[in-house]
Amino acid sequence: MGASGPGLRVEDLIVRGDRGRELLSVPRLDLTPGGSLGISGPSGSGKSTFLFAVAGLLKAASGTVAWGDAAITAMGEARRAAFRAERIGIVFQDFLLFDELGAADNAAIAALYAPRGARDGIRARAGDLLSRLGLADEDRPVPGLSGGERQRVAVARAMAGNADILLADEPTANLDRPTATRLVDDLLVRCRERGASLIAVSHDETLLARLDRRIEIRDGKVRLDG
Ligand SMILES: Nc1ncnc2c1ncn2[C@@H]1O[C@H](COP(=O)(O)OP(=O)(O)O)[C@@H](O)[C@H]1O
Ligand SMILES: [Mg+2]
Repeated sequence: MGASGPGLRVEDLIVRGDRGRELLSVPRLDLTPGGSLGISGPSGSGKSTFLFAVAGLLKAASGTVAWGDAAITAMGEARRAAFRAERIGIVFQDFLLFDELGAADNAAIAALYAPRGARDGIRARAGDLLSRLGLADEDRPVPGLSGGERQRVAVARAMAGNADILLADEPTANLDRPTATRLVDDLLVRCRERGASLIAVSHDETLLARLDRRIEIRDGKVRLDG
């Protein structure tokens, strides 16, 4: 409480793909500390690429991405990975869960590399989030879960680490309306409690409408939607 996640400053960001093709160009984008931003736009326009870039997951990116004082584009790979582990929770579009593990172990995976003193908290939050999302006592391994169940595990995992930056790629895409609403409520309540900064890619108007700001990405270019 009181604390707030870092602001984001993006300057002259250019991401290139194969053979130097420009996938994304963002001359300037700012997010206030603890603020939330929605991103919409057609498929293939560069939305996931933008999230990867602000997560520091892209090598072929030039320009500046800074979260508060931390210019992740100026960090080496090891520091960037440490920053991500400590500060960023990511809901990947295709979830990236571990097939060998059940819901609870996936949601609490951050406990494996967190400092010893933080592990119990991560496991407890993961369990709490899963039960709020209707997946209490779910111990089937991931291949037995539906798309919507996997999505909820991915969201619980992203939030369980108590990161102060949350990045979510179409987090309600596989959910029915009541489940999506519950998940968005949880996401926003947790962000507010934590003061976390949130960026969500989504086509879901009910999610986008609840965020502070939104932009559209089309053909690798940002349009400010207001
Ligand atoms: N690793 C990559 N190498 C080359 N091209 C890529 C890579 N990842 C994505 N792309 C291309 O970048 C563009 C934007 O993709 P993406 O960010 O996934 O779009 P969106 O999330 O808006 O659907 C697409 O043309 C896609 O084919
Ligand atoms: Mg995408």
